Amino acid sequence: MSKNKFKKFFLVSLIGVLVLGLIACGSTTEKVDVNKQESQLEAIKASGKIVLGTSADYPPYEFHKEIDGKDEIVGFDIEIAKEIAKDLEVELVIKDMKFEGLLAALDSGNVDFVVAGMTPTPDREENVDFSKIYHRTVQALVVKKDNVENITSLQDLEGKKIGAQKGSIQQEIATEQIPGGQIKALGKVSDLMLELKYGKIDAVVVEIGVAKAYVSKNSDLLVSEIKFDEEEGGSAVALKEGSTELVNAINNTLDRLMKEKLIENFVTKATELIE
Ligand code: ARG
Repeated sequence: MSKNKFKKFFLVSLIGVLVLGLIACGSTTEKVDVNKQESQLEAIKASGKIVLGTSADYPPYEFHKEIDGKDEIVGFDIEIAKEIAKDLEVELVIKDMKFEGLLAALDSGNVDFVVAGMTPTPDREENVDFSKIYHRTVQALVVKKDNVENITSLQDLEGKKIGAQKGSIQQEIATEQIPGGQIKALGKVSDLMLELKYGKIDAVVVEIGVAKAYVSKNSDLLVSEIKFDEEEGGSAVALKEGSTELVNAINNTLDRLMKEKLIENFVTKATELIE
Protein backbone atom coordinates (compact mmCIF):
# COMPACT_ATOMS: atom_id res chain seq x y z
CA MET A 1 0.00 0.00 0.00
CA SER A 2 1.33 3.44 -0.93
CA LYS A 3 1.46 6.12 1.73
CA ASN A 4 -1.55 7.98 0.19
CA LYS A 5 -3.64 4.86 -0.22
CA PHE A 6 -2.92 3.94 3.36
CA LYS A 7 -4.04 7.39 4.56
CA LYS A 8 -7.27 7.07 2.60
CA PHE A 9 -7.90 3.58 3.94
CA PHE A 10 -7.24 4.80 7.46
CA LEU A 11 -9.67 7.74 7.09
CA VAL A 12 -12.47 5.60 5.65
CA SER A 13 -12.07 3.09 8.48
CA LEU A 14 -12.13 5.84 11.06
CA ILE A 15 -15.33 7.33 9.64
CA GLY A 16 -16.89 3.85 9.60
CA VAL A 17 -16.14 3.29 13.26
CA LEU A 18 -17.48 6.71 14.19
CA VAL A 19 -20.72 6.18 12.27
CA LEU A 20 -21.28 2.75 13.85
CA GLY A 21 -20.63 4.28 17.26
CA LEU A 22 -23.20 6.98 16.68
CA ILE A 23 -25.84 4.48 15.55
CA ALA A 24 -25.21 2.40 18.65
CA CYS A 25 -25.59 5.42 20.94
CA GLY A 26 -28.79 6.54 19.30
CA SER A 27 -30.57 3.26 19.78
CA THR A 28 -29.99 2.40 23.43
CA THR A 29 -33.21 0.86 24.76
CA GLU A 30 -33.24 3.35 27.62
CA LYS A 31 -33.60 6.26 25.26
CA VAL A 32 -36.42 4.61 23.29
CA ASP A 33 -38.36 3.84 26.49
CA VAL A 34 -38.11 7.38 27.79
CA ASN A 35 -39.49 8.68 24.49
CA LYS A 36 -42.40 6.24 24.63
CA GLN A 37 -43.35 7.25 28.19
CA GLU A 38 -43.22 10.92 27.36
CA SER A 39 -45.49 10.47 24.41
CA GLN A 40 -48.11 8.58 26.47
CA LEU A 41 -48.59 11.43 28.93
CA GLU A 42 -48.20 13.97 26.15
CA ALA A 43 -50.79 12.14 24.06
CA ILE A 44 -53.30 12.25 26.92
CA LYS A 45 -52.68 15.95 27.46
CA ALA A 46 -52.84 16.67 23.74
CA SER A 47 -56.14 14.79 23.38
CA GLY A 48 -57.59 16.78 26.28
CA LYS A 49 -59.09 13.67 27.88
CA ILE A 50 -58.17 10.64 29.95
CA VAL A 51 -60.20 7.43 29.72
CA LEU A 52 -61.00 5.61 32.96
CA GLY A 53 -61.79 1.91 33.03
CA THR A 54 -63.92 0.73 35.96
CA SER A 55 -66.46 -1.89 36.98
CA ALA A 56 -69.38 0.00 38.51
CA ASP A 57 -70.85 -2.84 40.58
CA TYR A 58 -68.82 -2.01 43.66
CA PRO A 59 -70.41 0.44 46.11
CA PRO A 60 -69.02 2.59 47.69
CA TYR A 61 -66.04 2.41 45.27
CA GLU A 62 -68.03 2.79 42.02
CA PHE A 63 -71.70 2.21 41.34
CA HIS A 64 -74.67 3.39 39.32
CA LYS A 65 -77.01 5.92 40.86
CA GLU A 66 -79.93 7.81 39.44
CA ILE A 67 -79.37 11.48 40.00
CA ASP A 68 -82.06 13.91 38.80
CA GLY A 69 -83.55 11.14 36.69
CA LYS A 70 -80.20 10.40 35.04
CA ASP A 71 -78.09 7.27 35.47
CA GLU A 72 -74.65 8.24 36.73
CA ILE A 73 -71.55 6.42 37.90
CA VAL A 74 -70.54 7.63 41.36
CA GLY A 75 -68.28 6.47 44.19
CA PHE A 76 -65.01 7.34 45.90
CA ASP A 77 -62.89 5.80 43.12
CA ILE A 78 -64.67 8.10 40.67
CA GLU A 79 -63.90 11.13 42.86
CA ILE A 80 -60.23 10.08 42.89
CA ALA A 81 -60.27 9.66 39.09
CA LYS A 82 -61.76 13.16 38.75
CA GLU A 83 -58.94 14.59 40.85
CA ILE A 84 -56.36 12.80 38.68
CA ALA A 85 -57.96 14.27 35.54
CA LYS A 86 -58.12 17.69 37.18
CA ASP A 87 -54.40 17.65 38.03
CA LEU A 88 -53.57 16.61 34.45
CA GLU A 89 -55.90 19.36 33.20
CA VAL A 90 -57.91 16.99 31.02
CA GLU A 91 -61.52 15.82 30.88
CA LEU A 92 -62.47 12.47 32.47
CA VAL A 93 -64.23 9.90 30.28
CA ILE A 94 -65.64 6.83 32.10
CA LYS A 95 -65.92 3.37 30.56
CA ASP A 96 -67.89 0.84 32.61
CA MET A 97 -67.03 -2.80 31.94
CA LYS A 98 -66.70 -6.18 33.59
CA PHE A 99 -63.92 -6.33 36.16
CA GLU A 100 -62.30 -9.29 34.40
CA GLY A 101 -61.83 -7.24 31.20
CA LEU A 102 -60.12 -4.23 32.76
CA LEU A 103 -56.50 -5.29 32.44
CA ALA A 104 -56.92 -6.30 28.80
CA ALA A 105 -58.54 -2.91 28.14
CA LEU A 106 -55.45 -1.23 29.61
CA ASP A 107 -53.17 -3.36 27.50
CA SER A 108 -55.00 -2.65 24.26
CA GLY A 109 -55.10 1.08 25.01
CA ASN A 110 -58.90 1.05 25.20
CA VAL A 111 -58.59 2.80 28.58
CA ASP A 112 -55.76 4.92 29.98
CA PHE A 113 -56.09 3.97 33.65
CA VAL A 114 -58.09 1.71 35.90
CA VAL A 115 -59.58 2.75 39.25
CA ALA A 116 -61.76 -0.15 40.36
CA GLY A 117 -60.81 -1.08 43.90
CA MET A 118 -58.10 -3.16 42.31
CA THR A 119 -55.61 -4.89 44.61
CA PRO A 120 -52.00 -4.99 43.43
CA THR A 121 -50.89 -8.65 43.35
CA PRO A 122 -47.56 -10.13 42.17
CA ASP A 123 -49.38 -11.76 39.22
CA ARG A 124 -50.94 -8.51 38.06
CA GLU A 125 -47.70 -6.63 38.66
CA GLU A 126 -46.12 -8.74 35.94
CA ASN A 127 -48.40 -7.17 33.34
CA VAL A 128 -49.34 -3.70 34.59
CA ASP A 129 -47.98 -0.86 36.72
CA PHE A 130 -49.65 0.17 39.97
CA SER A 131 -49.75 3.46 41.83
CA LYS A 132 -49.35 3.51 45.59
CA ILE A 133 -52.20 2.02 47.64
CA TYR A 134 -54.92 4.61 48.35
CA HIS A 135 -57.34 2.52 50.44
CA ARG A 136 -56.99 -0.54 52.69
CA THR A 137 -59.54 -3.23 53.42
CA VAL A 138 -60.19 -6.86 54.43
CA GLN A 139 -62.40 -9.61 52.97
CA ALA A 140 -65.86 -10.53 54.18
CA LEU A 141 -68.56 -13.11 53.54
CA VAL A 142 -72.18 -12.14 52.81
CA VAL A 143 -74.89 -14.70 53.58
CA LYS A 144 -78.66 -14.74 53.77
CA LYS A 145 -80.02 -13.64 57.12
CA ASP A 146 -82.08 -16.81 57.55
CA ASN A 147 -79.02 -18.94 56.88
CA VAL A 148 -76.57 -17.23 59.22
CA GLU A 149 -76.88 -19.83 62.00
CA ASN A 150 -75.99 -22.65 59.61
CA ILE A 151 -72.81 -20.96 58.43
CA THR A 152 -70.53 -20.15 61.35
CA SER A 153 -67.15 -21.35 60.07
CA LEU A 154 -65.42 -21.82 56.73
CA GLN A 155 -65.84 -25.59 57.26
CA ASP A 156 -69.63 -25.16 57.23
CA LEU A 157 -69.28 -24.07 53.62
CA GLU A 158 -68.12 -27.48 52.46
CA GLY A 159 -70.14 -28.55 49.43
CA LYS A 160 -71.87 -25.14 49.34
CA LYS A 161 -71.97 -22.73 46.41
CA ILE A 162 -69.75 -19.70 46.96
CA GLY A 163 -69.94 -16.64 44.73
CA ALA A 164 -67.01 -14.42 43.83
CA GLN A 165 -66.33 -11.92 41.09
CA LYS A 166 -64.64 -13.37 38.02
CA GLY A 167 -60.97 -12.43 37.86
CA SER A 168 -60.93 -10.97 41.38
CA ILE A 169 -58.68 -11.87 44.29
CA GLN A 170 -61.85 -13.02 46.08
CA GLN A 171 -62.20 -15.80 43.54
CA GLU A 172 -58.71 -16.99 44.52
CA ILE A 173 -59.28 -16.53 48.26
CA ALA A 174 -62.53 -18.51 48.10
CA THR A 175 -60.89 -21.29 46.12
CA GLU A 176 -57.95 -21.52 48.49
CA GLN A 177 -59.64 -21.03 51.84
CA ILE A 178 -63.03 -22.70 51.57
CA PRO A 179 -62.36 -26.44 51.67
CA GLY A 180 -64.79 -28.29 49.43
CA GLY A 181 -66.61 -25.12 48.38
CA GLN A 182 -68.04 -24.93 44.85
CA ILE A 183 -66.92 -21.59 43.52
CA LYS A 184 -69.25 -19.78 41.16
CA ALA A 185 -67.56 -16.82 39.47
CA LEU A 186 -69.70 -14.16 37.77
CA GLY A 187 -68.77 -10.93 36.01
CA LYS A 188 -70.76 -8.52 38.19
CA VAL A 189 -71.01 -8.38 41.99
CA SER A 190 -74.61 -7.15 41.64
CA ASP A 191 -75.51 -10.46 39.92
CA LEU A 192 -73.79 -12.44 42.68
CA MET A 193 -75.93 -10.67 45.28
CA LEU A 194 -79.09 -11.43 43.27
CA GLU A 195 -78.14 -15.11 43.11
CA LEU A 196 -77.59 -15.05 46.87
CA LYS A 197 -81.01 -13.47 47.48
CA TYR A 198 -82.72 -16.09 45.28
CA GLY A 199 -80.90 -18.93 47.03
CA LYS A 200 -78.93 -20.01 43.98
CA ILE A 201 -75.68 -19.59 45.91
CA ASP A 202 -75.02 -19.74 49.68
CA ALA A 203 -72.45 -17.01 50.25
CA VAL A 204 -70.50 -14.26 48.46
CA VAL A 205 -66.90 -13.23 49.17
CA VAL A 206 -66.28 -9.47 48.76
CA GLU A 207 -64.42 -6.65 50.44
CA ILE A 208 -65.94 -5.54 53.74
CA GLY A 209 -66.98 -2.07 52.54
CA VAL A 210 -68.83 -3.58 49.58
CA ALA A 211 -70.41 -6.27 51.78
CA LYS A 212 -71.79 -3.58 54.10
CA ALA A 213 -73.03 -1.51 51.16
CA TYR A 214 -75.10 -4.38 49.73
CA VAL A 215 -76.39 -5.42 53.17
CA SER A 216 -77.55 -1.86 53.86
CA LYS A 217 -79.72 -2.03 50.72
CA ASN A 218 -80.92 -5.63 51.20
CA SER A 219 -82.49 -6.43 54.58
CA ASP A 220 -82.47 -10.18 53.81
CA LEU A 221 -78.64 -10.23 53.66
CA LEU A 222 -76.04 -10.11 56.42
CA VAL A 223 -72.26 -9.83 56.81
CA SER A 224 -71.08 -13.07 58.44
CA GLU A 225 -68.72 -13.12 61.43
CA ILE A 226 -66.44 -15.50 59.56
CA LYS A 227 -62.96 -14.12 58.90
CA PHE A 228 -60.51 -15.01 56.18
CA ASP A 229 -56.86 -15.61 56.66
CA GLU A 230 -55.17 -12.88 54.66
CA GLU A 231 -52.71 -10.12 54.41
CA GLU A 232 -54.45 -6.80 54.46
CA GLY A 233 -55.68 -6.01 50.96
CA GLY A 234 -55.71 -2.60 49.36
CA SER A 235 -56.64 -0.69 46.24
CA ALA A 236 -54.32 1.02 43.78
CA VAL A 237 -54.65 2.63 40.36
CA ALA A 238 -53.56 0.32 37.51
CA LEU A 239 -51.77 1.54 34.38
CA LYS A 240 -50.29 0.05 31.27
CA GLU A 241 -46.85 -1.42 31.89
CA GLY A 242 -44.06 1.12 31.47
CA SER A 243 -46.19 4.19 32.29
CA THR A 244 -43.60 5.58 34.71
CA GLU A 245 -44.42 9.21 34.02
CA LEU A 246 -48.15 8.73 34.44
CA VAL A 247 -47.64 6.62 37.58
CA ASN A 248 -45.59 9.47 39.07
CA ALA A 249 -48.23 12.05 38.18
CA ILE A 250 -50.98 9.88 39.71
CA ASN A 251 -48.96 9.23 42.86
CA ASN A 252 -48.60 13.00 43.25
CA THR A 253 -52.36 13.40 43.10
CA LEU A 254 -52.85 10.55 45.60
CA ASP A 255 -50.28 12.12 47.95
CA ARG A 256 -52.16 15.39 47.81
CA LEU A 257 -55.53 13.69 48.45
CA MET A 258 -54.14 11.70 51.37
CA LYS A 259 -52.43 14.74 52.87
CA GLU A 260 -55.65 16.73 52.70
CA LYS A 261 -57.59 13.72 54.12
CA LEU A 262 -59.82 13.91 51.05
CA ILE A 263 -59.99 10.17 50.41
CA GLU A 264 -61.71 9.53 53.77
CA ASN A 265 -64.02 12.36 52.89
CA PHE A 266 -64.82 10.78 49.48
CA VAL A 267 -65.49 7.39 51.15
CA THR A 268 -67.95 8.98 53.62
CA LYS A 269 -69.74 10.90 50.86
CA ALA A 270 -69.94 7.84 48.58
CA THR A 271 -71.32 5.75 51.44
CA GLU A 272 -74.02 8.38 52.07
CA LEU A 273 -75.04 8.10 48.41
CA ILE A 274 -75.85 4.40 48.89
CA GLU A 275 -78.47 5.05 51.57
N1 ARG B 1 -60.02 -5.94 45.17
C1 ARG B 1 -60.46 -7.05 44.38
C2 ARG B 1 -59.47 -7.35 43.29
O1 ARG B 1 -58.65 -6.55 42.99
C3 ARG B 1 -61.84 -6.87 43.78
C4 ARG B 1 -62.06 -5.60 43.08
C5 ARG B 1 -63.39 -5.58 42.35
N2 ARG B 1 -63.69 -4.28 41.83
C6 ARG B 1 -64.83 -3.94 41.20
N3 ARG B 1 -64.97 -2.71 40.81
N4 ARG B 1 -65.76 -4.81 41.01
O2 ARG B 1 -59.47 -8.41 42.70
